[in-house]
Amino acid sequence: MGRRALRKIDPGLDLTRWLIAEEALSTPLSAELLFGHTAPLQIEVGSGKGLFLAHATASLPEHDFLGIEIAAKYAQFAAARLAGRARTNGKVIRGDGVRLLRERVADESIEAVHVYFPDPWWKRRHRKRRVMHAAFLRDVERVLRIGGALHFWTDVAEYYEATLELIRRTTHLDGPIVPAERPSEHDLDYQTHFERRMRLNDLPVYRSEFRN
Ligand SMILES: C[S@@+](CC[C@H](N)C(=O)[O-])C[C@H]1O[C@@H](n2cnc3c(N)ncnc32)[C@H](O)[C@@H]1O
Repeated sequence: MGRRALRKIDPGLDLTRWLIAEEALSTPLSAELLFGHTAPLQIEVGSGKGLFLAHATASLPEHDFLGIEIAAKYAQFAAARLAGRARTNGKVIRGDGVRLLRERVADESIEAVHVYFPDPWWKRRHRKRRVMHAAFLRDVERVLRIGGALHFWTDVAEYYEATLELIRRTTHLDGPIVPAERPSEHDLDYQTHFERRMRLNDLPVYRSEFRN
C-alpha cells in the first residue's frame, strides 16, 4: 500500500517552536532545555504524520513527547499538527531516531519509547535497515527508566514475531503485554495513521508493550 500525498501545511504556521533539526540538539539531549520545564519524557521513533503525538500530548498533558522523524516532509507535517493545536508538551525532531537514541539520550531518562508501524524492509537483504534491530533495542532498554515502557506495533506478522524474539534474546525487558484493540469513536480515533489505514482495510495489527 503506497502512502497518500500530504495535505498542504498552512504557510502562516510558525513551526520554529515545534520542529527541531537533530544537529541543533544538545548532547546529551536535555528535555528541560527543549521544553523549559521538567516532566516525564516519552519518545516516538518514526512519527509519520504525527497522529500519535497529537493525541498523546492532549491525553497526557503532564508528560512531554518528542517525535523523531527522518523524512523532512513528515517531520514538518507532524510539527504543524502540534503547532496548529499550540501544544506546549510536544515537539518533532527531524533526524534519525536510532542514532539519536544511541548518541544523545542519557541512561534511564525516558518514560516510554513508541515505535508504530516501522518500515518493514521486505527484502531479506534490506532487513538490516529495520529500526527494530538488536543495537537499537539495547539502547531502548538503556534509556528507559525502571518501569518505563516500549510500545511496538506493526501490521507485518513476520516483523512482529522476529522483533519479539530479538527483544527476548537481547534485552531483559518484561513482556509482551498485548493491548486489546480499542473501538474507534471517530474518524481519527486511532493510535496512528497506519493503524487507521490497516483497520479501515480490515487488516491485522500486531501490538506489544514491554516494561523495563
Ligand atoms: C511506515 S511509517 C509509520 C508512521 C507512523 N508511525 C504511523 O504509524 O502512521 C514509518 C515512518 O518512520 C520513519 N522512519 C524510518 N526510519 C526512521 C529513523 N531511523 N528515525 C526516524 N524516523 C524513521 C519514516 O520516514 C516513516 O515516516
